[in-house]
Amino acid sequence: MPLERLQIDAVRCLEAVDVELHPHRNYLFGLNGAGKTSFLESIHLLGRGRSFRTRQTARLVRHGSDGLTVFGEVRSGDRRHRVGVSLAGRELTVRVDGEKTLGMAQLAEVMAVHVMGSRLHRLIEAGPSERRRFVDGGVFHVEHAYLQTWRNYRRVLGQRNAALKRGLSGAPLTVWTQPMLTAAKAVNAARERYVEELSDLVELVGGRLLDQPLAIVYRPGWKQGITLEQALGDSLERDLRTGFTQVGPHRADIDIRMEAGSVREHASRGQQKLIAAALVLGQVRLFGQRTGRGGLLLVDDPAAELDGESLDRLLAELEPLETQLFLTGLSERALRPREGFPVFHVEQGRVEAMV
Ligand SMILES: Nc1ncnc2c1ncn2[C@@H]1O[C@H](COP(=O)(O)OP(=O)(O)OP(=O)(O)O)[C@@H](O)[C@H]1O
Ligand SMILES: [Mg+2]
Repeated sequence: MPLERLQIDAVRCLEAVDVELHPHRNYLFGLNGAGKTSFLESIHLLGRGRSFRTRQTARLVRHGSDGLTVFGEVRSGDRRHRVGVSLAGRELTVRVDGEKTLGMAQLAEVMAVHVMGSRLHRLIEAGPSERRRFVDGGVFHVEHAYLQTWRNYRRVLGQRNAALKRGLSGAPLTVWTQPMLTAAKAVNAARERYVEELSDLVELVGGRLLDQPLAIVYRPGWKQGITLEQALGDSLERDLRTGFTQVGPHRADIDIRMEAGSVREHASRGQQKLIAAALVLGQVRLFGQRTGRGGLLLVDDPAAELDGESLDRLLAELEPLETQLFLTGLSERALRPREGFPVFHVEQGRVEAMV
């Protein structure tokens, strides 16, 4: 599913970009503030309907413009899809082959985008919600129906919380607890299956990147060794007091440990970046295994925060991927581009292929 051509109009500092891309590897170099990350954000917007830097797409609109457009041509077997995302005023329009679409699933069907950006370490450092989002995104990319499963859970959880706030208990509360339990089991089962496969890949890649063993365990959001029914029973009093369901998949996390202990407390900043990179690489590889498709991987400034040896290890892990790679850096010195692949120079909002 490589992106063969990309046109960007008025995204941050990028004015009018029109480039032909390589199906395996593309390099972008430029100084700070040149627009490298903005270029990757544009690709992300095209594949996922939003940026990876902000949730507010309006922030991406170039100052002085009243909207933005990103357009791409994506190869799929012997077909070519035209994908476009535009924001005019507050309205985001997504088109696939000329047809307006509302569903992210349709976008993801055409191009699956993964990203290693400068906020990558947050996957390790931040609270569980970042990691849940990561797992949910991964499950969705290999199993599009999961989006509905997850939304359904959010809905019935909200209903149960509303019932708790009204002070319902006993049978009237059970009316809301039952659908929540059913939906919770579906979410949990999908995530458990996914993390089980993912963890093998992440432990393998992470072990190589860190040069020490890494262990990953999925925590479903309630106490180990008991069922969710039991956990809900145990927390009923607190649920009623707080008006909020204390246990369930909305409290899930993945626990990652290195030799010294939990990575959240023990990994250095550079190690956090490598561990998070292993998570993304695991996800990319699992996506490939499960769907037989390559997807796109945006690697923003991998040289930042990594020593030479760590960077080389990371680049070596990217080598065998059947993915369309986009790599950025300050200069060719920081990230020696492989021969035979295009290098783009980014300067003052312009992106030019170097010859
Ligand atoms: N909405 C906007 N309109 C115009 N310019 C913007 C907007 N938002 C950000 N910018 C500017 O666009 C540039 C975008 O920089 P970007 O983050 O893409 O650079 P970069 O090449 O990734 O730099 P770095 O190497 O520092 O990461 C910055 O100079 C920023 O000030
Ligand atoms: Mg940047």
